[in-house]
This record gives sequence, C-alpha cells and structure tokens, in this order.
Amino acid sequence: MQPIGIFDSGYGGLSVMKEIVKSLPEYNFIYLGDNARAPYGSRDFDSVFEYTWQAVQWFFEQGCPLVILACNTASAKALRTIQQKKLVGKFASKRVLGVIRPTSEVIGNYSSTGHVGVLGTTGTVQSQSYLLEIQKFFPHLVVSQEACPMWVPLVENGEADSEGAGYFIKENLDNILAADGKIDTLLLACTHYPLLEPRIRAYIPTAVKIVSQGAIVAQSLVDYLERHPEIASRCTKMGGREFFTTGDINDFDTHGSSFFGHPIRSKKAHLP
Ligand code: DGL
Repeated sequence: MQPIGIFDSGYGGLSVMKEIVKSLPEYNFIYLGDNARAPYGSRDFDSVFEYTWQAVQWFFEQGCPLVILACNTASAKALRTIQQKKLVGKFASKRVLGVIRPTSEVIGNYSSTGHVGVLGTTGTVQSQSYLLEIQKFFPHLVVSQEACPMWVPLVENGEADSEGAGYFIKENLDNILAADGKIDTLLLACTHYPLLEPRIRAYIPTAVKIVSQGAIVAQSLVDYLERHPEIASRCTKMGGREFFTTGDINDFDTHGSSFFGHPIRSKKAHLP
C-alpha cells in the first residue's frame, strides 16, 4: 500500500482530511496525530522541526510517497527545511506539502475591503510565514495577525463548547478586530479552529467572513495530483483510511470523530 499521509499535532488535521477524502475518495489515506506531544503551537522551532521530521519518516516507513502537513505550526516551522534538506538521497522520490502556501494563494480573493485577519498559534504567528507568503500573491492586501494560544488546548481537551472557552475566544477576536476595523475576512490559520467556528461567529459582525482551510487544501491537492501524474500514479487508490495517534486511542476515537464527521477507529503509533 502507498497511501497519502496526513499529519497534525493532534486532531486538527482531521478537519482537513475530511475535505480531502470528499475530493479524492478513491485514494488511500493514513492519518497520524501526535497527540502525546500536542500542542505544538507554543513549542520552540527545534522541537517542532524534530517532531515533524520524526512523523514524516514514520509515514515514509508506512510506504507513503506523499505527506501533507495538515498543521500550520509544522508547515511554518518544519516544511521548508524538510523539503530543502531532508528529501535527498534515499528520500529524494518523496514529497511533503504544507497548508500555508495553498491558503495564501487564495485568501485575498475572499476580501472586498483588502483587509484580512489571520488567527493562528503563537508559533505560526511568530514565524511570519503568512505575512511573507500572502505578500507574494496579494502584495496590496493588509494582513493583521493574532496569536490565540489558548484555543488549541481548549479544543484538544474537549472544552470548545464550555463557558470558559468563550472568554478566550472573544478576547482574541476583539484584539484583531480592534487592530484593524476594516477586516472583512478572518482566516482560521490553524486546523483545530474550525471546531470553534460557531463560537467565533457569535463574537464577530455578520459581515465578517470566516475562512477555514479544509476545502482550500483539498482543492490544492487535487490540482497538485493533476499536475504531477508521476506522484499520483504511485499512490494507492482503493479508498482505504487508517488513523494513528501517539496518544490514547480511546480519546482519539471520541474527539477525532467530531473533527472528521464520521466514527474513527485509531491505532497506536510510536514515534522515537
Ligand atoms: N492544528 C495545528 C495548526 O494548524 C495546531 C498546532 C498545535 O498543536 O498547537 O497549527
């Protein structure tokens, strides 16, 4: 089997995988959540790089020719080094893609005012990756960023619907909308955040759009496989889906199902 690998620090990437399997149902997919070490958002560069590279090698051992980092933090802190320094020698035929570039390529199309807000983890925001990437495609777009360090822990701990979560969600939204009153588009630049979308909606004006990455990344993968038939032909197309976590499999099955939209049966994975 040569499935496409989908990686996230925890459950968030399942919100991307959900859209990818809708667009590419015939492909085999294997998901890995590094729940035992999540969240990544507040970790230093070296740790995120090391953990992500360990996960990518695990996918290669499972036979994956292509791995999607469905995690903004890992895409921001590890993708470029993996692509430029690690995919050489015995890994030269492997491909690893992220979520920041495909999102940056289209985000400007959603805004009428030309002002967008990017909500992400501390790691993603500090990396400035979105500012740099969006600039390439929409040089006139005004981009504000807000780090929301509490949001992933709230989601990972099943507190997304709690009263307490509302305090932190509102605080970050108030900050970003105060920073630029012309923002009409908020990008959820963390794959965990779509689970908070109904809560986010309640604290922002109805005119402000919320953009999630799942469908954007799925379309970009469809395009990539069309442009790269040599990679597409190496991927197994038998509709298989497998789920692995470095954390507790029962927790993963319970929480993960709400991200994926279908029941999940996971297995344990061991990273070094
Ligand atoms: N889903 C990851 C992202 O998109 C969450 C990062 C974390 O573990 O903090 O950034």
